[in-house]
Amino acid sequence: MERILEPELMVNPEQGQAYACADFSVPNEQFLHLFARKFPDFSGPGRVVDLGCGPADILIRFAHRYPQCQFIGIDGAEAMLAPGREAVKQEKLGDCIDLHCECLPMARDERVYQAIISNSLLHHLHQPQVLWQTVKKCSDQNTSIMIMDLFRPESIESARHVVQTYAADESPVLQQDFYNSLLAAFRVDEVRKQLCCAGLDLECEQVSDRHLLVWGKGAVVRKQ
Ligand SMILES: C[S@@+](CC[C@H](N)C(=O)[O-])C[C@H]1O[C@@H](n2cnc3c(N)ncnc32)[C@H](O)[C@@H]1O
Repeated sequence: MERILEPELMVNPEQGQAYACADFSVPNEQFLHLFARKFPDFSGPGRVVDLGCGPADILIRFAHRYPQCQFIGIDGAEAMLAPGREAVKQEKLGDCIDLHCECLPMARDERVYQAIISNSLLHHLHQPQVLWQTVKKCSDQNTSIMIMDLFRPESIESARHVVQTYAADESPVLQQDFYNSLLAAFRVDEVRKQLCCAGLDLECEQVSDRHLLVWGKGAVVRKQ
């Protein structure tokens, strides 16, 4: 099945609200757990950036787990950041989490981060190299990088089945977004090619029946 693009930014306030109200505790906790497993020595201090952070649920979990770090969340859609700003305030994490409305590639940010994380951004990007070039620019050999995304199922029927299995009780807006995301996602072999083109020496593996994971240390250029 060919990839079917969806809009990059989630600018519709209905999407932001539906997304923020949905319960992503299981996959988001799994994200944190995978990071801790892949990078057992990571503890901070340092700066961590979440690319396409949306309502900041993953950042909030990281801030509790790694209190010595400073966290920066980047998202191009204020509709997605708004519930995140509220949640950060409620959790009293305003001193360690900064949310910025900005689109990738981040033209002005020349900083190197101690960790780069991202969940469910890649499939939104019409040009995936936007993510990989950002990762390259913002990392050095000490940066811990972990990027998780959906992967594209074999067929429309399999995509419908995944939505039914994991989102049958969610709102129609969320179910439609999930379905569109599956069709827009990349396969593991496609992501490996992207990494190779970018010269990034990162691993890419399937980690569930719908997720792939990219991880490793940054800015290490792979011999082409
Ligand atoms: C499916 S949401 C994931 C949100 C969050 N990472 C999570 O796991 O809950 C994807 C997010 O990426 C953002 N996004 C898409 N393209 C972007 C770009 N070029 N620059 C910045 N953010 C982008 C969207 O606005 C949206 O909030």
